[in-house]
Amino acid sequence: MIKINENYLKLQSGYLFPEISRRVRAFSEKNPAAKVIKLGIGDVTEPLPPTIVQAMHKAADEMGSKASVKGYGPEQGYDFLIEAIIANDYKSRGVNLENTEVFVSDGSKCDTGNFQEIFGIDNVIAVTDPVYPVYVDTNVMAGRTGQAGKAGEYAGIVYMPCTPDNNFVPQLPKEKVDLIYLCFPNNPTGAVATKEQLKRWVDYAKTNKAIILFDAAYEAFISDNTIPHSIYEIDGAKEVAVEFRSFSKTAGFTGLRCAFVVVPKELKAWTSAGKAVDVNPIWHRRHGTKFNGTSYISQAAAAAAYTDRGKKEVRKIIELYMSNAALIREELGKLGYTVYGGVNAPYVWLKTPGKMSSWEFFDYLLEKANVVGTPGSGFGAAGEGFFRLSAFGDPANVAKAMERFKKL
Ligand code: MLT
Repeated sequence: MIKINENYLKLQSGYLFPEISRRVRAFSEKNPAAKVIKLGIGDVTEPLPPTIVQAMHKAADEMGSKASVKGYGPEQGYDFLIEAIIANDYKSRGVNLENTEVFVSDGSKCDTGNFQEIFGIDNVIAVTDPVYPVYVDTNVMAGRTGQAGKAGEYAGIVYMPCTPDNNFVPQLPKEKVDLIYLCFPNNPTGAVATKEQLKRWVDYAKTNKAIILFDAAYEAFISDNTIPHSIYEIDGAKEVAVEFRSFSKTAGFTGLRCAFVVVPKELKAWTSAGKAVDVNPIWHRRHGTKFNGTSYISQAAAAAAYTDRGKKEVRKIIELYMSNAALIREELGKLGYTVYGGVNAPYVWLKTPGKMSSWEFFDYLLEKANVVGTPGSGFGAAGEGFFRLSAFGDPANVAKAMERFKKL
């Protein structure tokens, strides 16, 4: 008799975004005339910048010629891309990396979801609450949790509440944890962490022989010069942190796919007998076994994002999305909403009006304004009573959505 992995049966409802799509589809079928504006999932709406498109055309031509066709590439990624990543994203901020510390992939969702596989099942996991659901769900699938409680929180996970009282940056856990997921600029709250705050986490990880999985997918949206873009800007972080980056939100690659993980050579985990093990070769082994490399065309496109022209074009698109964020903040603020985020991140996190729950506000907004957002409770119990609006959208649509808010 074939047995199912029963950990999957512990998972709560559907994954958040497909569930939202399902509800929006049902609404649209009932109300075919409604012009729904989607500010739910953080998906790009601007076309890819011309320099990136040209690089893809050139790469496609290379693939069409016997002299330059590429078969399987290096699983870890082509050096031309890894070198551009190191020079532009790290060396420019005082962080030195070797090529073999960067692993190119097809997305941060997969990377942040897969990384836990190389750690023992009995590690204690700590996540912020609210949190990007992938970190939690993949640990549930792996069997690191018990059942979910009423608010959707899983037994065995240490949840670190992020609320207005702590500016959405969690306190250090009182208990000892082994694997800590941090995301800054944060999805969903839009909060950022200062160098001092990140240093406390690095110190905690060193003291407790823990590892931080640091998701920096939104670093390009930071506008405050004092905020670190990489956890490796903190001394000693290479000994305790893995960093995830993505081209999805930065350069518009949600439909093209390219991301990377940094696994420093200094990073160690331990056997149950207490022997130190280098994490980098273990991730290399896992990556090479389960992944055959990101497509050459995607990597050529990603490298083009680092050319002078590419950087300018990408910056323009980021500014466009951030002007949407500023508009959302300003208009909702004028209407009396309490809003957070949207300054160093493309997400605005707002308090739901009255005593509405997050899903009640979702339905209310969809029905009355035909605007889609993301219910805060979908990101965890501490997200209840909050709502996320994504700044990824066509500026005219975002302005229209704000007009509709005024009529509520
Ligand atoms: C989000 O809206 O939170 C993200 O787009 C989801 C993702 O990146 O997978």
